[in-house]
Amino acid sequence: MMGSDDENAALSSEPLYNPDLLRLDFSQIKTKFDPPISPSEPGEALIVRPLCPADYDKGFVQLLSQLTKVGNISKDQFLRRYTTMKACPNTYYVTVIEDTRSSHIVGSATLIVEQKFIHECAVRGRLEDVVVSDDYRGKQLGKLIIMTITLLAQHLNCYKITLDCKDRMIPLYTGLGYKLEQGGSNYMQIRFDNKKPFKL
Ligand SMILES: CC(C)(COP(=O)(O)OP(=O)(O)OC[C@H]1O[C@@H](n2cnc3c(N)ncnc32)[C@H](O)[C@@H]1OP(=O)(O)O)[C@@H](O)C(=O)NCCC(=O)NCCS
Repeated sequence: MMGSDDENAALSSEPLYNPDLLRLDFSQIKTKFDPPISPSEPGEALIVRPLCPADYDKGFVQLLSQLTKVGNISKDQFLRRYTTMKACPNTYYVTVIEDTRSSHIVGSATLIVEQKFIHECAVRGRLEDVVVSDDYRGKQLGKLIIMTITLLAQHLNCYKITLDCKDRMIPLYTGLGYKLEQGGSNYMQIRFDNKKPFKL
C-alpha cells in the first residue's frame, strides 16, 4: 500500500489528460523545424506533456502572466480549477513544456474541444493561451506547442481548430497553416466587468 507521501507525489504528477495522446506524427506536417524537433524530442532536457498539479510549484502561473493578467492565484485555487477541468473528460488539454534541468514550465498552450450538435454532433477545437517564457523564445518552442495542439485537435477528430490573436501574430499562425477566412475573420466580444470569481 502507498504511504501518504507516495500518494501525494502520485497525485501531484497526475496528468490532466492521457499523455499517450502526445505521440503525434510530426513527419506529416509541412512546417519546417530547423533543427528538427517534435513533442517527443523537443530539445535537450525539455519535455512536452499534459499539465499536472505539481506545475503550480514549477512556475506555470508565472508563465501565464507573460501572456496576460493572471492575478494572485493560490495553490488551492489552482488545484480546484485543475480538478474541475479534469472532471470534464475529453475537453481540456492544457499542455506544457518543462525544462527538467530547472523544473520550470517554459511553454504552454491549451486545446479546448467543444462538443457541437452541428455537423452531425461534431467537435471543434479552440487553441488558447499560447505562451513561451521570455528566455526561451526564438527557439521554435512557440511553433512546437502550436503544432502540437493543432495535430492533437486533428487526432481527436475536430472538424476545425480556431484561434484569436493580435494582428502582429497573424504571420506566425499563417506560417503554420492557419488561414484568415475571407469575409469571416472578425473577432467580436463584450468584456463583462465581473468582479466575482466563477464558482461551480
Ligand atoms: C508568441 C510566442 C509564443 C512565440 O514563441 P517563440 O518560442 O519565440 O516562437 P518561435 O521561436 O517558434 O518563433 C516562431 C515565429 O514567430 C515569430 N514571432 C515570435 N514572437 C513574435 C511576436 N511577438 N510578434 C510577431 N512575431 C513573433 C518569430 O519571429 C518566428 O518567426 P520565424 O519562424 O519566421 O523566424 C512568444 O513570443 C510569446 O509567448 N509571446 C507572449 C504571449 C503571446 O503573445 N502569445 C500569443 C498569443 S496569440
